[in-house]
Amino acid sequence: MGMRVLVCGGAGYIGSHTVIQLLAAGHDVLILDNFANSKPAVIKRLESITGEHLRVHAFDLRDAERTERLFDHEQIEAVIHFAGHKAVGESVEKPLEYYQNNLGSTFSLLRAMERHGVTKLVFSSSATVYGENAPVPMTEDLPTSATNPYGWTKVMIEQVLRDVAVAQPDQRIAILRYFNPVGAHRSGTIGEDPSGIPNNLLPYICQVAVGRLQKLRVFGDDYDTPDGTALRDYIHVEDLAAGHVAALARLTATERAVSTWNLGTGNGSSVLEMLHAFERAVGRTLPYEIVGRRAGDIAASFADPGRARAELGWKATHTIDDMCVDSWRWQSQNPNGYPDA
Ligand code: WQD
Repeated sequence: MGMRVLVCGGAGYIGSHTVIQLLAAGHDVLILDNFANSKPAVIKRLESITGEHLRVHAFDLRDAERTERLFDHEQIEAVIHFAGHKAVGESVEKPLEYYQNNLGSTFSLLRAMERHGVTKLVFSSSATVYGENAPVPMTEDLPTSATNPYGWTKVMIEQVLRDVAVAQPDQRIAILRYFNPVGAHRSGTIGEDPSGIPNNLLPYICQVAVGRLQKLRVFGDDYDTPDGTALRDYIHVEDLAAGHVAALARLTATERAVSTWNLGTGNGSSVLEMLHAFERAVGRTLPYEIVGRRAGDIAASFADPGRARAELGWKATHTIDDMCVDSWRWQSQNPNGYPDA
């Protein structure tokens, strides 16, 4: 049954892909985004993909007054909260900015939801909350910790949500822990568009392939893994978006105040496997160099996605090759990402 859903951070990489699937599922979508880490150009792309006019509120979620006015004027029935800073390295340099932004925006949202009796919330969390020494495949009952301020904001917000659920048992909250989101909508008109030099593997490879960067540096090949390079659970952003739609539907039926689900494939792929899959998508080899490990990296991270499958009826379906073909279509059609205007 369609609901009016506020998507905080709806102009971002995962948010924009989720907006498309929410509309396809019959929901009515409102986008809130301050465009701190996204471009307004994505809205027109979304409108041409969906054929719908999208209503966008462009302000900072930390602005409690404007957030209150938004809830006052709109009959919001559910919220998906993507908004937040998410660069690990940057969070180490600017911890106060990360805590203030990620926690402050969440508090502003939760207070407005409480004042207006909005109880359904899907929160964008991350496998980073499993910390440095988690056994693989990772299950949702593992203890949480972090090794950087960004990760701590996710650990802390999860705790805030669990405490809010105790105080307000009519809440219906879904905490979704993403593994490594990659890929792009099949149209090639929306995709990941990091500002500056990408920290993450796939956007970096994309920019090598399109000629913006010279070569990939592979951070270490001396891990205890089949080819020595680190394993990650790469998941197509379309599968991730589908997981949000499934979680939202579940919130209308569950009796549980807060639920936590891993959104991953359950498979670990190595850096070199991803590089070679991307080479297959591009049709040529790409330059790379093996260098030392990156501080803070772990050898292997991949999900046990069994709970999401059992409780949401959700399963990732896209392959590594799908992810690379779709990423390459986006990057080759948009060598410099979204236009500024
Ligand atoms: C993947 C693998 C690198 C770049 C991060 C965040 C996590 C989440 C997802 C937000 C690792 C290797 C990378 C490069 C490389 N983000 N690599 N050369 O570190 O698993 O997770 O993004 O929630 O919070 O920590 O992803 O893409 O940075 O790295 O060899 O230029 O690729 O060492 O093994 P990561 P990543």
